Amino acid sequence: MTTSISYEPLDWSTIVDPYPVYAELRDRAPVFWHEQMQSWVLTRYPDCRDVLRNHELWARDLRRLGAEVPDERLNIQYQDPPEQAKLRALIVNAMRTPDTRDICRRARPDLEGHFERLGDREEFDLMSEVAAPLALQITCDLVGVEPPALETYVRIFEGLTRRMDSGLDPSHAEPGEKVGLELHAMMKAWFEQTRLPGMIASLRESPHTKSMPDTYVRNTVSAVFNASYSTVYASTGAVVLTLLEQPHVLDQLRDRSLMATGVAELIRFCSPAQGTSRVATERTRIGDTTIERGESVVTLFAAANRDPEYFERPDELVLDRSPNRHLGFGWGPHICAGAQLATDWLCELIEFLNEQPQELTLAGKPVYMRSATLRNLESLPVRLVH
Ligand code: HEM
Repeated sequence: MTTSISYEPLDWSTIVDPYPVYAELRDRAPVFWHEQMQSWVLTRYPDCRDVLRNHELWARDLRRLGAEVPDERLNIQYQDPPEQAKLRALIVNAMRTPDTRDICRRARPDLEGHFERLGDREEFDLMSEVAAPLALQITCDLVGVEPPALETYVRIFEGLTRRMDSGLDPSHAEPGEKVGLELHAMMKAWFEQTRLPGMIASLRESPHTKSMPDTYVRNTVSAVFNASYSTVYASTGAVVLTLLEQPHVLDQLRDRSLMATGVAELIRFCSPAQGTSRVATERTRIGDTTIERGESVVTLFAAANRDPEYFERPDELVLDRSPNRHLGFGWGPHICAGAQLATDWLCELIEFLNEQPQELTLAGKPVYMRSATLRNLESLPVRLVH
């Protein structure tokens, strides 16, 4: 399809507010060839969902198309069923061993402590002072390891987040590989040394772990570690900013019967995960467009989640929206393995914001990180009003 639409995911205007360009793409070029990414970009709900659920036609595992994938990249995210299903079952079971609600409850005193410590300041940065340390604490509690220095992990997270955009900016590939190897080395040491309860301990005890290559298991726990840190951090920022911009929503969420649907709606509305990619295993069509075997598609779930053909009043937060089959956690065999933890955490956070005595307000302009695949705030200046 020929079109004059310009979609530049790393332009600041797109990062700050991608929704106008998503709407334009959905309307005028729902299957859009992006030269720089060398990929088709999909923005309509049914197209994105159909790609994500049809793993036979749409591969995540590039070995199915004859590519070589380095060992350190092989984990549940980069494999497909049936190979991925066995590993995914093992990992998802290990993720359930520490109760995700307990993990979030254990983070509550620290959340309270951060607000107490920062409450007297004129203003503070919610991202570096609250979201980052809590994301690391929650993640280490899940995996069952002593937290590394926060600055070390923030550096790894930033490198891995930018690596996801290396199709748009190839200069992010090499630094991303380096920090990826750093995380792998950390993980190897944790597998050998940690004795804390959590995912690693549970995997050590499971009789099924031995039937998997060690590297795949460790790589997947590395993927879980970074997915957990990055999304707890990014979704904390996205949700708090949305609630500061629409304070009546926080107030409505005092009604606990709205919490489950409300959190799902917040994920639909402002999920930090913008999209993912798949590759066609054979020639196929989406609408009027032919996609050749080996061509890549990017499914922009953040655009699909605002598709007016699928969601009524898509640009509004409808806290009792039901059903709400949003794609914020993906769909199909790669659907988010940490959705329960993410949901429990956001419930805990919202309850805390409603229960703590001071009002949280915006104290300055939020600053986004220059990243496209994961849209996330670098700083969110806030103040507590007594
Ligand atoms: C609001 C927070 C979160 C959002 C929006 C989110 C979003 C997503 C999305 C969209 C996918 C699918 C990617 C694809 O199909 O290629 C995914 C997969 C995944 N997520 Fe999350 N996620 C969140 C939280 C978490 C947490 C807290 C963890 C870990 C505890 C986690 C672990 C994973 C893993 C391991 C996968 C890969 C699953 C697979 O490929 O089989 N996520 N997530």
